[in-house]
Amino acid sequence: MSLEVRLEGLTVGYGAAPVLERTDLVFPAGSFTALLGPSGCGKSTVLNTVAGFVRPASGRVTAGSVPVEGPGPERGVVFQHYALFPWRTARGNVEFALKRLGLSRRERRERALAALAEVGLADGAHKYPAQLSGGMQQRVALARALAAEPEVLLMDEPFGALDALTRGRMQDLLRELWRRSGTTVVFVTHDIDEALALAGRVVVLGASPGRVLADHPVPPGPPDPDLRALIARHLTTT
Ligand SMILES: Nc1ncnc2c1ncn2[C@@H]1O[C@H](COP(=O)(O)OP(=O)(O)O)[C@@H](O)[C@H]1O
Ligand SMILES: [Mg+2]
Repeated sequence: MSLEVRLEGLTVGYGAAPVLERTDLVFPAGSFTALLGPSGCGKSTVLNTVAGFVRPASGRVTAGSVPVEGPGPERGVVFQHYALFPWRTARGNVEFALKRLGLSRRERRERALAALAEVGLADGAHKYPAQLSGGMQQRVALARALAAEPEVLLMDEPFGALDALTRGRMQDLLRELWRRSGTTVVFVTHDIDEALALAGRVVVLGASPGRVLADHPVPPGPPDPDLRALIARHLTTT
């Protein structure tokens, strides 16, 4: 299940100058888009607005034609910092995220265990965050988002703090989960190779104010060096 996400004439700011100005972007249902851009250009602001954490000054965001007016379980988020409760086990953290769905205790438990199994953490369900490596903690964060069966998955540099090997494994896992679920994924990264490895489309944002500088489909198969060079050029001219 997946929803189309649509940004229309979106202007967002935190004070004086807008961070995004009249930005239009459509993320088709079931697509996997990477958002690239220099630090501070507004990538997180795009995600936070779609997540419903930040209110636009003008314009609108819809998910499946429904205006976004705040956070909702159909839009899952995974950020770089997992923000797990240290006093809850992996299972407890995932169950907690399901509280608002009106499920029975037993359903919550079953869903949490299924989501942890999906991310390869069936054996770690009873462990506390401090007993888990960074990669495992990020798997819990992914399970927490997936357990609610979101139709949109918003990921903000989710693997940025992981070592290269763990990062590669998480990318494989995410690709596989996306293939199975068909969820609409918007994935923020500043790593071109990560964007090309994961996404079917790369959108490059520029700064001051944030706007779409380039929008490229990524053909399936091994990463194309010409496309990589083209995107790298967009990034250095911002
Ligand atoms: N909560 C906030 N309050 C004030 N300014 C913010 C806030 N969040 C982001 N900004 C500013 O908005 C701009 C875009 O930030 P952000 O969306 O986080 O960029 P990116 O994720 O591309 O690095 C930056 O100049 C940043 O300092
Ligand atoms: Mg950011």
